[in-house]
Amino acid sequence: DAQKAEYKARIKALLKARNAVLVAHYYTDPEIQALAEETNGCVADSLEMARFGRDAEAQTLIVAGVRFMGETAKILSPEKTVLMPTLDATCSLDLGCPADKFSAFCDAHPDHTVVVYANTSAAVKARADWVVTSSIALEIVEHLDSQGKKIIWGPDRHLGAYIAKQTGAEMLMWQGACVVHDEFKSRALMQLKAEHPDAAILVHPESPQNIVELADAVGSTSQLIKASQTLPNDKFIVATDRGIFYKMQQLSPTKTFIEAPTGGNGATCRSCAHCPWMAMNGLQAIEAALTDNTGHEIFVDEALRVQSLIPLDRMLDFAA
Ligand code: 13P
Ligand code: SF4
Repeated sequence: DAQKAEYKARIKALLKARNAVLVAHYYTDPEIQALAEETNGCVADSLEMARFGRDAEAQTLIVAGVRFMGETAKILSPEKTVLMPTLDATCSLDLGCPADKFSAFCDAHPDHTVVVYANTSAAVKARADWVVTSSIALEIVEHLDSQGKKIIWGPDRHLGAYIAKQTGAEMLMWQGACVVHDEFKSRALMQLKAEHPDAAILVHPESPQNIVELADAVGSTSQLIKASQTLPNDKFIVATDRGIFYKMQQLSPTKTFIEAPTGGNGATCRSCAHCPWMAMNGLQAIEAALTDNTGHEIFVDEALRVQSLIPLDRMLDFAA
């Protein structure tokens, strides 16, 4: 509508005027993803967002996603101004893994290599030997396991359990979970599959094990998008945040994408898998951030930044 068009026009002008670029995650609302595409920004998974932000020539990055994505961008590019539509967009994995408690857990097992998911604060990253995202976690843990390393894994217990099962690595788990993926329900998913026997099931590994076991493909957001293009099926049941449907449908306009069921208030709920923090990234908030940095700019303590850069760079070098 007219107001949205006005916001979009103003944002486009502000991006140009400020030499800024919009870096959006696949879980943001379709209009935000479209805006990033129209303005030569990027729409990506968390690994690619980090790379894009680091390599961008723009002096200002506006990161539409959740807090850890903005912090990662700042850690990698301290000379850039990193803005977020709202600094309140957190993540249940980050919230459930306070740095002091996690650090004490690591101290209790000094012979272990500490591997943390990107969905953590800069302080937790600073305590880690490796940072991983879901698109590279398997390869990195496989590599560490082949060197005989014992691993502390945090914070997502479902992703950790999936990786431990795939690699056979010895992993001590922090017990965190994603509020969105933790809600997928296996019995309802089996019923849905029975109604659509020709559909392939795509699952993000932050989902519980009984959901992962039903999957035809398991992977990060970018890997699931790839699977939606390459698997021979014309129909897919997708167990991850519904924001991903924008890109899947754009790349395969003739295919059908169905949302996997979640449990809401004891009832089976469809169209419910949407991260409440990703949803905070609206047009109005983006315009506000580009108009005035105050309350939108990411700062990371320099000592923490230097320390957290080490495990982040290790991941990016491994991925290169
Ligand atoms: P990806 O790295 O797969 O994009 O996942 C990020 C995330 O927050 C998933 O919930
Ligand atoms: Fe965090 Fe889950 Fe939201 Fe991803 S979907 S940002 S893991 S709460």
